[in-house]
Amino acid sequence: MYGGLRALDRELAKEDWQEAKYIILLDENTFQHCLPLLISQVEALQEAEFVEVPVGEESKSLEVAAQVWQTLMESEADRQSVIVNLGGGCVCDLGGYVAAGYKRGIRYINVPTTLLSMVDASIGGKTAINFGGVKNSIGHFYPSALTVIEPAFLDTLPQEELLNGRMEMVKTAAVTDPQLFNELIASTDNFQFSIFNFQLKQVARIKACVVKADPYDHGIRKILNFGHTFGHAIEVYSHLPHGIAVGIGMKAAMYLSMKKTGLSEEVYRGYSKWLNGQIELPKYNLKDIEQILSLMRQDKKNASGAIRCVLLQELGAAMIDVEVSDNEIRDAFLKLGQ
Ligand SMILES: NC(=O)c1ccc[n+]([C@@H]2O[C@H](COP(=O)([O-])OP(=O)(O)OC[C@H]3O[C@@H](n4cnc5c(N)ncnc54)[C@H](O)[C@@H]3O)[C@@H](O)[C@H]2O)c1
Ligand SMILES: [Zn+2]
Repeated sequence: MYGGLRALDRELAKEDWQEAKYIILLDENTFQHCLPLLISQVEALQEAEFVEVPVGEESKSLEVAAQVWQTLMESEADRQSVIVNLGGGCVCDLGGYVAAGYKRGIRYINVPTTLLSMVDASIGGKTAINFGGVKNSIGHFYPSALTVIEPAFLDTLPQEELLNGRMEMVKTAAVTDPQLFNELIASTDNFQFSIFNFQLKQVARIKACVVKADPYDHGIRKILNFGHTFGHAIEVYSHLPHGIAVGIGMKAAMYLSMKKTGLSEEVYRGYSKWLNGQIELPKYNLKDIEQILSLMRQDKKNASGAIRCVLLQELGAAMIDVEVSDNEIRDAFLKLGQ
């Protein structure tokens, strides 16, 4: 739903939602920065209860999920109850997980408040908690009844979080839409919020489209993992935020795409230049790279032993499951800082 909170207000006034009892799931930041706007714009939510969970990954745990279920039981939430996830990817992932399990599944609405969750985490029905020290290891495919994109929430989002989301936008565009990719990496000197809002919704629509074609992640949806095989390892090794690590991972993936699958050097150079203007790129020596390689081997997507990743033949034309050798990866990491 791309019409923002006004569209949500109109939707919840419809017959389908007359019996609904709403529980808003939020964290400390979205309680402070986002709840006032939500309840002032959406009449049906004015009397809603709310449940606050810890900020960030800490909320995506079995313990916190159990606490939310306990609260739902105590407030006699029934099958007409609807969870409204007001937050970033963490709140959306947790809320979806809780909704999937409660009384065999109740409806939930995603109201994403970070850029990353607007363009990625709130779309596509993947719910998850972290378990056994492994991120997103327990979860379901359980789509939200509605996802509402309201860019006004971004006004209070810290710069670093905005950059995280931008990287995922660039990623989605790289594998699906060359023109949008070029617009996103064009100079931001004359940044216009209206254009940005348009691009944000474009990316959200693309994600929804890819998910519709492959809801259970068996085929084409894997293109959205572009940059992630490298990015996950960089995230863990260098303690960088996810989106930023993916941005760096995309540079490595584009380098290998240039060497292996025919991506033009011009695209690689253009992206590298843009990335250099956004962040300071880490420089890895051979010892670092060996440790990063072992992290990549542990990645769940490489169960067969070989490291596989998404590469580009050209912008908008991705190949999934391309095997890359350790030496090719070493080479790509050595080129990162250049
Ligand atoms: N389900 C999926 O398909 C999917 C896809 C991508 C990522 N994810 C998950 O998403 C999570 C990351 O999500 P995220 O990047 O949104 O992080 P997050 O949910 O931790 O939010 C980032 C920070 O921003 C704060 N915040 C949120 N909205 C705000 C606002 N409007 N103003 C000020 N502060 C605000 C939060 O409190 C938090 O401190 C990860 O757990 C990841 O696994 C899921
Ligand atoms: Zn990601």
